[in-house]
Amino acid sequence: MVENFRFMAQPNLGKIAYQTLQQSKGIVGIVHKEVSTKLMELVAPDAVPETSIPSADLLFELRKSIKELEEIDWQEAEQGIYPKSLLFEAPWIQWFFKYPLVWLDMPSTWLRRVKRNFQDIPVEINKEKYPDYYLQNFHHQTDGYLSDHSAGIYDIQVEILFNGTADAMRRRVISPLKKGLDSSFPNLNPSNLKLIDIATGTGRTLQQIRSSIPKCDLIGLDLSSAYLKQASKYLNHGEKDLVQLIQGNAEKTPLKGNTFHAITCVFLFHELPKEARQNVLNECYRILKPNGILVIADSIQLNDIPNFIEVLENFHKIFHEPYYKDYIKDDINNKLEKAGFDSIKTDTFFMTKIWSAKKTEI
Ligand SMILES: C[S@@+](CC[C@H](N)C(=O)[O-])C[C@H]1O[C@@H](n2cnc3c(N)ncnc32)[C@H](O)[C@@H]1O
Repeated sequence: MVENFRFMAQPNLGKIAYQTLQQSKGIVGIVHKEVSTKLMELVAPDAVPETSIPSADLLFELRKSIKELEEIDWQEAEQGIYPKSLLFEAPWIQWFFKYPLVWLDMPSTWLRRVKRNFQDIPVEINKEKYPDYYLQNFHHQTDGYLSDHSAGIYDIQVEILFNGTADAMRRRVISPLKKGLDSSFPNLNPSNLKLIDIATGTGRTLQQIRSSIPKCDLIGLDLSSAYLKQASKYLNHGEKDLVQLIQGNAEKTPLKGNTFHAITCVFLFHELPKEARQNVLNECYRILKPNGILVIADSIQLNDIPNFIEVLENFHKIFHEPYYKDYIKDDINNKLEKAGFDSIKTDTFFMTKIWSAKKTEI
């Protein structure tokens, strides 16, 4: 009895450290947003978006949802789905030195908001290399996705936006990915496994996967050479296996059909027009091997969590997200089926929806 009590009374230091880190990131995110909004109200009042003020109940629900996400994140690490070290991993020193750039960037963001100038991208960009929908300042990002400056501060901006939960949101793809692979390819040696992360951006999802399924052959694809350069700096150093990074449009990749055991795709679909969403799913189907697995993470949609509808409505008023309004109503399951996928499953976590699907053997 005393032994049991002693056992129960042991504090789980790892979990407390993780919770403390998440709380600190959350506070930094909230303070940053509060101060920057106040500054915008003062310096550029015309840039302030007209949004509803969230009620105390809604804020409570959001905090609860973040806590649930962190609990699942911890539990899955405890179960060995990914190593606990991932929960603490980030290029902290680099972020520390890049953070002032986020502030310095703000005035140009406000100006872009006031002028409603959403096609403000570097003049030297060869526009013919990109689809029209891509040549925009998504979330008012300076240079869109098309410069080293944008790629250098993107991760910090996303961390701030989601109050420090961005990687916990991305990690939700790992469990369905591993389950799907175990069921589709039970005897496959990880060193023979080929996985591609579509719209990989700065490579944070690839880093989570590499730590969870070591030795597998990883590829990242994105339209932005600047973001791929950033991903390469982050992923391809030290002793770890190199990750191959390819510039290409996810609607029509330069990759051979029937190549990959698995595809992941995080935070892309809400930034695509409707037709492009279908094209990307068709392309994923084409490049997957028979029985291959697709796992997508993106924003929750209108029908997922009724309490959060106000947050979704505010999101596209605050940020330039031209396709978000359509995305949150879109029937992605239907698009997956149209592309040929089956065994479609969905799940939701804090602001994150996960789809997993299979290309059944033909
Ligand atoms: C919101 S970011 C998400 C990046 C990353 N997956 C993450 O978790 O942070 C969207 C990414 O999609 C890329 N992208 C947008 N449209 C694309 C397309 N048609 N083909 C390939 N990449 C695309 C952008 O360059 C950008 O890196």
